[in-house]
Amino acid sequence: MQNSRNYSKFAPLLKRNMRVLKSIGEIQPVLESLRRNGSAIGLVPTMGALHEGHLAIVRRAIDENEITVVSIFVNPTQFNDSSDLDKYPRNLQQDLDLLAEISEDIIVFVPEVSEMYSEGIVSKKYDFNGLETEMEGEFRPGHFQGVATIVEKLLEILLPDRAYFGEKDYQQLQIIRKLVLQTGLPIEIIGCPIVRESSGLAMSSRNKRLSKRLRKEASFVFKTLKTAKVKFGIESAKTVVDWVSKEFKNHRELELEYFVIADDRNLKPIINKEKGKKYRAFIAVYAEGIRLIDNVALN
Ligand code: PAJ
Repeated sequence: MQNSRNYSKFAPLLKRNMRVLKSIGEIQPVLESLRRNGSAIGLVPTMGALHEGHLAIVRRAIDENEITVVSIFVNPTQFNDSSDLDKYPRNLQQDLDLLAEISEDIIVFVPEVSEMYSEGIVSKKYDFNGLETEMEGEFRPGHFQGVATIVEKLLEILLPDRAYFGEKDYQQLQIIRKLVLQTGLPIEIIGCPIVRESSGLAMSSRNKRLSKRLRKEASFVFKTLKTAKVKFGIESAKTVVDWVSKEFKNHRELELEYFVIADDRNLKPIINKEKGKKYRAFIAVYAEGIRLIDNVALN
């Protein structure tokens, strides 16, 4: 099954027998033949710089499918800030080592930008009924158009049975669910819980860019979310929003971009709580110029 001659281009990146495929032309026939043999395929899309948050998702995909594909692609169209794209950590060899430690049966898809954007590096235009314009959509214009563009391409090319996404990017997860509904792709989208550092800080590839001190300090974000959750049980949404805003005004090194309590499904900010509805709190904070996001279920 594994023929190293096919992967000679990747000789320096080869981790024993792991299949690392770079082109659509290479990966499609491999997946097609696996599919014909009745293997269920799970896809974990990533931008690399893998950490335990990603790896937990990969393990789940391995548990639930015969074949797991991990894509590693830093998608240019979802970066609204070009310096963020330039600074995005890239370390393919380390990523492959981490994946090989879990299983050498993982198929890794690492296309070049020209492979994914052969017709120009531009996003398609999507309408997700306002899901794409709230919160991250408001503060990172065009971000979700880029995310949806690349995820639709990956899903169409790889045609997995299931695709896995983290709740760390909850708005992204809901948008991808909507994308799959709108496109009619026969793919199950599975949300996976947020993995945190021991301090409570949600794991992120960007955390590496924080100084040691601020990385510890940033645990304040989750601590505030947890208290907000308790407060939400007994106080109005507005009182909780005002309290969080005050907490961050008192914190000199963490700059609050937004704190929103929203309906779990349509992500619209709420005015008043309604019985039977599920709510979630979403936050974005800058620490040393690095943008951190997190969220928590409130009820
Ligand atoms: P990336 O930030 O690399 O994340 C890949 C997947 O890992 C996403 O589904 C994300 O939600 C999940 N993830 C990241 N940190 C996590 C954590 N601490 N706990 C749980 N899940 C976590 O999200 C993207 O890449 C891109 O937008 C992508 C979907 C690949 C499209 O380019």
